[in-house]
Amino acid sequence: MRSLISILDFSVEELDSLISTAKDIIAHPDAYWDRCAHKKLATLFFEPSTRTRLSFEAAMLELGGSVIGFSQASSSSASKGESMADTAKILSCYADIMAIRHPREGAPYVAAKAASIPVINAGDGGHNHPTQTLADLLTISREMGRLQDLTIGLCGDLKYGRTVHSLIEAMSRYTGIRFVLISPEELELPGYITENVLDKENIPYQVCRSLEEALPQLDVLYMTRIQQERFDDLETYERLKNSYVLNVEKMKLAKQNMCVLHPLPRVNEISVLVDDDPRAAYFRQALNGKYMRMALILKLLEEAKNPVKAAETKDNWVYDRICTNPKCICKIEQELPQAAKLTEQGVYRCVYCEQEV
Ligand code: CP
Repeated sequence: MRSLISILDFSVEELDSLISTAKDIIAHPDAYWDRCAHKKLATLFFEPSTRTRLSFEAAMLELGGSVIGFSQASSSSASKGESMADTAKILSCYADIMAIRHPREGAPYVAAKAASIPVINAGDGGHNHPTQTLADLLTISREMGRLQDLTIGLCGDLKYGRTVHSLIEAMSRYTGIRFVLISPEELELPGYITENVLDKENIPYQVCRSLEEALPQLDVLYMTRIQQERFDDLETYERLKNSYVLNVEKMKLAKQNMCVLHPLPRVNEISVLVDDDPRAAYFRQALNGKYMRMALILKLLEEAKNPVKAAETKDNWVYDRICTNPKCICKIEQELPQAAKLTEQGVYRCVYCEQEV
């Protein structure tokens, strides 16, 4: 059964095809109004969301389908201790496709292994957020007219920013991409992105502490929120929370055709006065998310008609290394084996959360 857990689950050709479908939906919405008639989407949101959950629901409704689900863990039987795998098996009885957001890294992967319907990762802890990346790709394509030959600045919380991780994985597969990584030292990218993606693929990148210094060279600026909910100690969050604020003055340093993206929600890292700048694309980006989720639902439901059982290679898996990430799904899921895989860089990483073990 085809699911979307990591953006790497889809080839570049498939990403380009989703973008084409989304553009066709924008141009011809009437052609899609009943494409998911009699189909149900389940939205399982164990963590708060405005855009992802409601754009998924709007997407399914605009395709003529229906929606069931919950928006907080406390209203599901997870609050009574039900496992992710059991929840996924149950929802497979009630829906045709499900989207899961969970604070535990690797939870959608565990769900996909147990489910008999397609599973979509709608954000797992500080790990991945592939459908935000779909929104980002369509936005860059529409704003810049291309997905190649771009210098992309990523600013803010690059450590816990799951949207940043998925976006780097996606954009690294297009030609001529260069990244400028703008963050405090404490919030630099995790190793599974620098080693497994940037270093492995020889993608050029520059580490930078100053937004002002980075701005003049950028084609795309991707701002992110410093995420209070991911910090173990409030003191560090308080010290870092105002590290970068994009305002009208700083926008004067940027190219005239640069576009500003932000997955949202923002706190104060983009002044509201920037919203009037035509280069501010973040509200258009949120709308693009709905179109890409429509395209994604169509693709996964189509493929579910003729499911192919993908064999997972486990030759490089070991079971004697313990994951130490307290936010990994393996810390709470009943009888989930501790499993790690050896990467091409010679590092063992947890199969659920990808942290080094
Ligand atoms: N961008 C994003 O994931 O927003 P929500 O948390 O509101 O879904």
